[in-house]
Amino acid sequence: MPPNKPERSSRRKVTLRELSDLYDRLLKREAQLRAALYSIGDALMITDTDGSITLMNPAAERLTGWTESEALALPIEQVFRIVDEDTRAAIENPVTRTLRTGTVVRLHHRTLLISRDGREIPIADAGAPIRDESGDMTGVILTFYDQTLARAALQAAQMAREFAENIIATVREPLLVLDSNLRVVSVNHAFYRLFRTTPEETLDRQIYELGNQQWNIPDLRRLLEEILTRDSHFDGYAVTHEFEHIGQRTMLLNARRIRRSSELILLAIEDITERIQAEQKVQSHLRRLRALRTIDQAIISAFDMRVTLDILLEQIRTHLHVDAAALHLLDPHTQTLTCAAAHGFQSRAIQQITLRTGEGYAGQVALGRRTMFLADLRTFEQNQFHLSWMHPDTFVSYCGVPLIARGQIKGVLEIFHRTRLDPEQDWFDFLEALSMQAAIAIDSVESFETLQRSNAQLVLAYEATIRGWAHALDLRDRETEGHSQRVTELTVQLARAAGLSDEQIAHIRRGALLHDIGKLGIPDSILLKPGSLTPEEWVIMRRHPEYAFGMLSPIEYLRPALDIPYCHHERWDGTGYPRGLKGDQIPLAARLFAVADVWDALQSDRPYRARWPREQALEYIRSQAGKHFDPEVVELFLKVIGAEADIAD
Ligand code: C2E
Ligand code: SIN
Ligand code: SIN
Ligand code: FE
Ligand code: FE
Repeated sequence: MPPNKPERSSRRKVTLRELSDLYDRLLKREAQLRAALYSIGDALMITDTDGSITLMNPAAERLTGWTESEALALPIEQVFRIVDEDTRAAIENPVTRTLRTGTVVRLHHRTLLISRDGREIPIADAGAPIRDESGDMTGVILTFYDQTLARAALQAAQMAREFAENIIATVREPLLVLDSNLRVVSVNHAFYRLFRTTPEETLDRQIYELGNQQWNIPDLRRLLEEILTRDSHFDGYAVTHEFEHIGQRTMLLNARRIRRSSELILLAIEDITERIQAEQKVQSHLRRLRALRTIDQAIISAFDMRVTLDILLEQIRTHLHVDAAALHLLDPHTQTLTCAAAHGFQSRAIQQITLRTGEGYAGQVALGRRTMFLADLRTFEQNQFHLSWMHPDTFVSYCGVPLIARGQIKGVLEIFHRTRLDPEQDWFDFLEALSMQAAIAIDSVESFETLQRSNAQLVLAYEATIRGWAHALDLRDRETEGHSQRVTELTVQLARAAGLSDEQIAHIRRGALLHDIGKLGIPDSILLKPGSLTPEEWVIMRRHPEYAFGMLSPIEYLRPALDIPYCHHERWDGTGYPRGLKGDQIPLAARLFAVADVWDALQSDRPYRARWPREQALEYIRSQAGKHFDPEVVELFLKVIGAEADIAD
């Protein structure tokens, strides 16, 4: 440092001692100043008013490549060589400029220092004049520092920012960047697009003020503030809200602090409304499938049409969310629709309605075989019919669906709703699925009823056949007209008295009517022989129960009736034929029948003998109890024919 100009104290007398002290202080002070100048990180050079270097600190030595001792007294331009970074043109040295202007001079902002060994170092800073107490310039102090790192850092920061902004701009997910006050500092297009908003409405506002304050939720506030204070993050915070411009939506928020910044929060928003709706659709689909299964099961298990249709209408109301539903069946012969089931109506009037095809809504649906959807019945008021029967119901929306199975129209399903329905396609799809099921249900119930009817007809046909056979048998056997009929009546009476069921009795009736059907296999010469049979003839005659078994067992319908034709000649004591069964081995039906048959045979004329009187026949039956006949059956028989008195006698 150049020695300062003597102080004004020169005007007064100074003692040597004072002077010595002053010099000492000055030396100390200079040492302190030097130490300070040398220790600062910034480079520092001082020149005199000629621009010659008088001081240079180590930082300046490092940057310029000159040592202080080499540089001392050299002109500043030689040591401090600077050019414009872009143009490479020499820049006026700040020292020169300061000396010229006497003012503080800042360096050109893109200044390169060319060091002694040719390194180029971006630097910044300024030159300032040094003045003495009287204000005269005594030199220039030049400070500068290496900007390489700062530049690099700045550049890196710039790049990072651009990179981040690019990401934000290109990501399809709406993104917000918030500062530490939770103000919006950056927004991407996706955000503006999704929320139909503008930068003016968004940038620089607090997140809680955006839109209709949809993010102003205490929980969300807490989470965002936690991110700032604790470097936490959160994912999947769902907000369902009636958003401005876009309506009811569900947004999923993810937020985290931007790395290396304690100040910024990146907030990503995902609109999951559609995903939720899709999930709900899947759920409702599943529920609907289950509903279809319920109806299926109803169809399979309940052949009662009413039960099936009730289940169906209940499912329709539940799963289509409608107020009322009715089902009309079409009578194909009269072409009229009658209401078979109705749910959700306040009045019973709809159940009384009968419509011809073409008449009313339902009739039109049946005739046109097309679904009819009327979103607002009030606009069809000229028709008026809904007013007449609906009262006190007031329905707004109507849907009529034809029920078609195997190409045949089975009826019409009607749906009514008290408020306007604006259903989506999948509502109609489900309605169609339900309608198909309804049609199948009706069809299968009808088929079942038809089957039952044809079964009944078959039964009638069988019964007629059996009666015809029995009649023919009687005629062939030359028995009195009606033997089969009479033994049958008596056997049925005995069976009832024995407590047998109606079903068993039905089989017994058929068996009794056909008891001697096996005689069809016996030649007339034997069957109609006026006298006693020879042993050979007996062998043949005794085959008639087996013939009956052979004839009837292939007929499934008559199989349960076989006991009597096959076993009616077995005897209680085991002496009967064809198998010689004994006691309880003989089916009860056959035991019952045997008594009735012999009782009637004895009182009938036979080719081989004349009829017996009643008393003789009765006597014979009694005598055979426990031999030919089951004794209990004989007792029963005596009760049934009212002959107990005779026993008592
Ligand atoms: P059916 O004439 O219908 O007789 C049925 C059963 O009634 C006989 O079975 C027998 O148990 C009883 N029954 C009928 N008539 C008499 C009778 O005069 N005395 C006695 N004790 N019981 C009588 P059964 O004996 O096994 O005979 C089976 C069938 O064989 C008879 O049916 C009949 O068609 C034939 N039959 C039996 N005996 C003679 C006979 O002497 N001459 C001829 N032509 N046929 C006979
Ligand atoms: C109905 O369809 O349920 C009766 C009303 C009509 O269509 O006329
Ligand atoms: C039959 O099997 O139907 C004849 C009766 C019996 O088994 O004894
Ligand atoms: Fe017989
Ligand atoms: Fe008989």
